[in-house]
Amino acid sequence: MESTSLHTARRMRALEPSATLAMAARAAALKAAGADVIDLSVGEPDFPTPEHICRAAEEAIRGGKTKYTPAAGIPQLRQAVAADYTRRTGLAVSPGQVVVSNGAKHSLHNVFTAVLDEGDEVIVPTPYWVSYAELIKLAGAKPVLLETRIEDDFKLRPEALRAAVTPRTRMLLLCSPSNPTGVVYTPDELGALADIAIEHDLAVVSDEIYDQLVYDGRESVSFPTLRPGLADRTVVVAGVSKTYSMTGWRIGWTIAPEPLSKAMGNLQSQETSNPCSISQHAAVAALTGPQECVARMLAAFEQRRDLVAARLRALPGVRIPEIGGAFYAFFDIREPLGRMKAGGIETSMQWCEALLERQQVALVAGSAFGAEGHVRMSFAASEATLAIGLDRIAAFLQTG
Ligand SMILES: Cc1ncc(COP(=O)(O)O)c(C=O)c1O
Repeated sequence: MESTSLHTARRMRALEPSATLAMAARAAALKAAGADVIDLSVGEPDFPTPEHICRAAEEAIRGGKTKYTPAAGIPQLRQAVAADYTRRTGLAVSPGQVVVSNGAKHSLHNVFTAVLDEGDEVIVPTPYWVSYAELIKLAGAKPVLLETRIEDDFKLRPEALRAAVTPRTRMLLLCSPSNPTGVVYTPDELGALADIAIEHDLAVVSDEIYDQLVYDGRESVSFPTLRPGLADRTVVVAGVSKTYSMTGWRIGWTIAPEPLSKAMGNLQSQETSNPCSISQHAAVAALTGPQECVARMLAAFEQRRDLVAARLRALPGVRIPEIGGAFYAFFDIREPLGRMKAGGIETSMQWCEALLERQQVALVAGSAFGAEGHVRMSFAASEATLAIGLDRIAAFLQTG
């Protein structure tokens, strides 16, 4: 008789795989088979990790920094994160408020697991980054997806938030600059949401992983700085993956009130122990070393943003919001989809599949971000690659 003892747990049955990673894997497989694929699916800077950061990692290996570290991170890195945050935002935080994890995704998992109880509701504005809803469900809580519209630049309006709060609402999740939309909230817009969080005693998770990738000379604002006392109810999530082109090193962190940080440190001590010791030393070098590399990459991303926004805006029936930060263009394809219906293409997923098949360009369907009728393009690729990708998208729209 076939054994059923290794069937998966109930919590796994609702778990979706990461759609962005799945599309990237598909594009990589096609490339490996010899296809000329332009992969604009994944959110990963295309620059090498800066040299001085790599050197610090080499020195860490040679210096024997190859053993377990404290579970919540080495003191130098917790100190560097706190000092860097205070320098950039003016808000004093202590190293004890910082927990370093295996990437910001792991940090988010820690927060949801440590804060949420069974049945708690978390308000997540859509379009949202693919992992939020799944990680919230894994923690036994309920993501409440709150639709935002392109007409509002995909920003959550205070009236919509107020109307969505129920007695079970425990947490609000915000991401600015946003993945997938590239939209950046103004301080006033965030302040209005902060007032509602205070009024209804909500915890806030502010995903600020793109905080240094903001264009047009503007700066992103860190959520807890907006109102007195807001830091007591907010967890900031950030890391080195995007700012320093260190996605593979797996270093992210939370900045939270100390008792919660202690709880997350305990959780991590049982689940994963410390994040990679060598990567932690590299992250210290990233935060405390020269910062010209960040400015250089930002300038390149801004130039690409200009190219991509102009070319997409020129496509018939395509709409995009203003891209103020991060490295994504999230565009509305409902009009072109309407025209393609007769050819059997009705959903953003079918549109992306046809684009990959006919023009070898990999994008991610909006449905993965809770926004059917849209697609996401990452512009973390060279201008030459982007130009070819945009030509192919234009050709697809013409012939599709
Ligand atoms: C909004 C957002 N949060 C968190 C993460 C996770 O970052 P990390 O690679 O450090 O786990 C990503 C990565 O794509 C992201 O886009």
